[in-house]
Amino acid sequence: MNADVQKYVSSIGITLDRFIAQRQSDFPYAKGELSQLLRDIGLAAKVVNKAIMNSGLIGIEGPAGEQNSSGEDQQKLDVVANVRFIRALTRGGEVCAVISEEEDEMIDTGNHNAKYVVAMDPLDGSSNIDVNMPLGSIFSVYRRKSPIGTPPTIEDVLQRGTEQVAAGYIIYGSSNMLVYTTGHGVNGFTYDFSIGEFILSHPNMRSQDDGKIFSYNEGNLYDFPQGIQDFIEHCRQNKFSARYVGALVADVHRNLLKGGIFLYPATKKAPKGKLRLMFECNALAFLVEQAGGVATDGEQRILEIVPTEMHQRCPFIVGSKAMVEKVTEMLKAHKEVLA
Ligand code: AHG
Ligand code: MN
Ligand code: MN
Repeated sequence: MNADVQKYVSSIGITLDRFIAQRQSDFPYAKGELSQLLRDIGLAAKVVNKAIMNSGLIGIEGPAGEQNSSGEDQQKLDVVANVRFIRALTRGGEVCAVISEEEDEMIDTGNHNAKYVVAMDPLDGSSNIDVNMPLGSIFSVYRRKSPIGTPPTIEDVLQRGTEQVAAGYIIYGSSNMLVYTTGHGVNGFTYDFSIGEFILSHPNMRSQDDGKIFSYNEGNLYDFPQGIQDFIEHCRQNKFSARYVGALVADVHRNLLKGGIFLYPATKKAPKGKLRLMFECNALAFLVEQAGGVATDGEQRILEIVPTEMHQRCPFIVGSKAMVEKVTEMLKAHKEVLA
């Protein structure tokens, strides 16, 4: 392509589907299944976005009347999003099993010749549903361990975060975006309603090395480990900005773009933390690391935690490298004092 033409054909503005097709060459032996899987997620995202936008009009706000396996009240939109993603992934044919925050057990899609499994939080930030605030969806993709052609097993879905082949999130905010990685950087796409396509708007997203935003639930402060409380005090002394949306995806997205840290540590009420390793933390940890940031439970890298059960929780600290390193040091210093 000559230079005159090149300037009109920058990668910004290309559709998600075309971008995925172009990026398939990052995987020399890929046959296109992962590309198809990512397109299926893109399709489900559009359907869920439509449901969210119309939720106040078609009677799908409010509680569904059931609890999920974590004992949380399901909202109607949690259920809608769960069904939409599972349906898209099952019909797409590239996934043999799905685990979801909203399902007690692993779902066998029946596609036993498929080589991928997906873990997901279909709707993140449910407390924002009825108040017109940002929501999200989070997904992780793994290669199955069991032989192709056989039913999926629990070992297929209980893998360490380091084994992810792709991960991402969708944010339903003042605009609708899909952000994903396949381990070759992070790219963000904004939905254009008029043409019904996600369009590349944020190529090669990078986490700033340091930041000035800190995000945590203030009501839990005195329940946090002392090292975390020390770090919060450090942020206050330095007049950093406190920002907390209550939807993890939105908080992580903002901090990724602006530089900052998100913390959901262990509390007295939730001694293992609140957020879920397989559905929330692993995907965001992979993505933020790919952008140059860091994710830890305070002691070890999130991606190296060996999962023992589908719905397990972990403390989650994620964001700009220097800020995460600072809080990790403070946690360590306090432990040494105690020792
Ligand atoms: P979910 O709606 O998928 O259960 O996730 C809610 C999570 C997360 O999005 C958010 O950061 C956190 O819960 C907020 O929890 P608190 O209300 O305890 O601060
Ligand atoms: Mn969530
Ligand atoms: Mn959820």
